[in-house]
Amino acid sequence: MARVSLATCVAVLLLVSTPPVAVGFESNEWWKGTIVYQIYPRSFMDSDGDGVGDLAGITSRLEYFNDIGVGTVWLSPVYKSPMADFGYDVADFKDIDPIFGTMADFDALIAKAHRLGLKLMMDFVPNHSSDQHQWFLDSKKNKDSTNEYKDYYVWEDPKQGCSDPPQQCVPNNWVSVFGGSMWEWVPERQQFYLHQFLVEQPDLNYRKPEVKTAMDDVVRFWLTKGVDGLRVDAIRHMYESEGLEDEPVNPDYTPKPGEQAQYDSLLHTMTADLPELHDVIKDWRDIFQEFSTDQYRFMVTETYDTHKALLPYYGTPERPEADYPFNFGLIELNKENLSGTKIHQLVDDWMKDLPHDKWPNWVIGNHDNFRIADKIGLEYARALNVLNLLLPGTPTTYYGEEIAMEDIWVSYNDTQDPFAINNPEHWEEYTRDPERSPMQWDRSSHAGFSTTAGKTWLPVNQNYLSGINVADQKADNTSALALYKKLAALRKDEPAFQTNHLKYVIVNDKIFSFLRMPDDQDTKPDSFLVIINAGTSESTDDYTAALTKLELKAEGDAGVIKVSSNMDRNGKSQGLSKISSAAGEALIIKASVYGFSSASVPTLSLTLSIATVMVKIFYHVMFKY
Ligand code: GLC
Ligand code: MG
Repeated sequence: MARVSLATCVAVLLLVSTPPVAVGFESNEWWKGTIVYQIYPRSFMDSDGDGVGDLAGITSRLEYFNDIGVGTVWLSPVYKSPMADFGYDVADFKDIDPIFGTMADFDALIAKAHRLGLKLMMDFVPNHSSDQHQWFLDSKKNKDSTNEYKDYYVWEDPKQGCSDPPQQCVPNNWVSVFGGSMWEWVPERQQFYLHQFLVEQPDLNYRKPEVKTAMDDVVRFWLTKGVDGLRVDAIRHMYESEGLEDEPVNPDYTPKPGEQAQYDSLLHTMTADLPELHDVIKDWRDIFQEFSTDQYRFMVTETYDTHKALLPYYGTPERPEADYPFNFGLIELNKENLSGTKIHQLVDDWMKDLPHDKWPNWVIGNHDNFRIADKIGLEYARALNVLNLLLPGTPTTYYGEEIAMEDIWVSYNDTQDPFAINNPEHWEEYTRDPERSPMQWDRSSHAGFSTTAGKTWLPVNQNYLSGINVADQKADNTSALALYKKLAALRKDEPAFQTNHLKYVIVNDKIFSFLRMPDDQDTKPDSFLVIINAGTSESTDDYTAALTKLELKAEGDAGVIKVSSNMDRNGKSQGLSKISSAAGEALIIKASVYGFSSASVPTLSLTLSIATVMVKIFYHVMFKY
């Protein structure tokens, strides 16, 4: 009887301490195993020598992705556009802008990508169009009931009871993301239209069923062309409150003297994340499903918000939405806050609330944020690629991150980005030109990006002459690119990197270290301890002790340095009780790790006490004392 209840106890203890089985992925879930690589088309490769990148240029470079182990390429917008926001102002959702080429160039690009086994994703910009889109040109003419397009955009009358000239009577206090009022006056219609971004980017009116149908049709158009996925732009801005209530003032915002109204000066309770938008995403998901019978079509949404506010974008098992919303947490890292503890906090922010069946993702840079190498310092850039590629989930690499490209500096007078031009008081903070400079391919003129005799649309970073280019790094097996290829290969070849399993192995606050194990934890499988030294000095630490705290043990308390970020310790055997890592260094140590459950501790002490009793009985019987 006593033995039964003891066995039950042990079983319960075992159950309690067994982590849920890690979730891996099936072969059709290509988007879970891949690396997503973002191309900013103006800046990747110029084939016709006009100083601006284009589709034929991208096509000519596609083999590069096979070479470095990237499986998915996402193109920022290449649609017809007057380029007020460099393509995020779309004048025709179903055509290619001549600066990038023709639809035939696009067809050639996707055909070659698929031939090379690559997936191709497009940017989809549903919130707004260009003010040059035919729908808007028609919409702004008049508000007659005969005007088919009159409600395609969000139009409002001047505020009632306002005694100023009508063009000054804006409906409310709403401020656009790029600064200034969200309302723009149109004399022809004697009304304001709403633009959450530039004046040249009027918001589409999703309360009008025809708009929704027209945009569904755009989704179908590109999926029919064979596009493997869409990155859905600026999704939280899709709807605004119909009551037009003023937004509350942000108490944490201090205005600069003379500045125009800034987006951050208000709290966006009336213009962001309205619940209606989830119905639209859900409908798009249904369309994606229609097209997913042979090949899964993948959807990622873009919204900057807290991790809690982003979770609803995954939908629910019954009502799935995006495969994932972009997780921009790591973009917060900078020179001031960089530490092991900070990385741990940002990673855990995402992981701790993520439902077990949802897939994580990571982003360290994009076309809207300064490059990671500048934000945290070049000496940490390689380690951030290790983090991005080896955490569980899908990483996004912004072009050039694999060779540790850095920002350029552009003066205000030469600035291209309207966000900076519109806000002179904040331009250095807001400009997005620095991270959009041309890709650095080799040491030839314009870094091999363009053959133009004139200027490229943004200047090339001159560090292409000192090793920051693809050709030089290909030839150097200690380069950032060589490291990147090794990381991509690990993701592809090692089961440990193909699940959502993650355990933090904490040694001190400078270092973020974690363990990746495959699903099968009983056979002492190859596991990987990843150590990121985000501190400012070398650190020597005991990882055996840290693993013991997690009830884990490595065979022989040792492993092999599979990859070191400086590419100088690869293949060396390494005891786990004393590992040194330099500031900015990342180490990936392969070891056979297995769990010992806390349940084995009571079992052991029980065995010991039974043995003690038996010895005592033996002595008692034999020696009668
Ligand atoms: C997204 C894009 C950004 C663009 C904005 C408006 O945030 O990433 O580049 O300016 O949407 O379309
Ligand atoms: Mg060109």
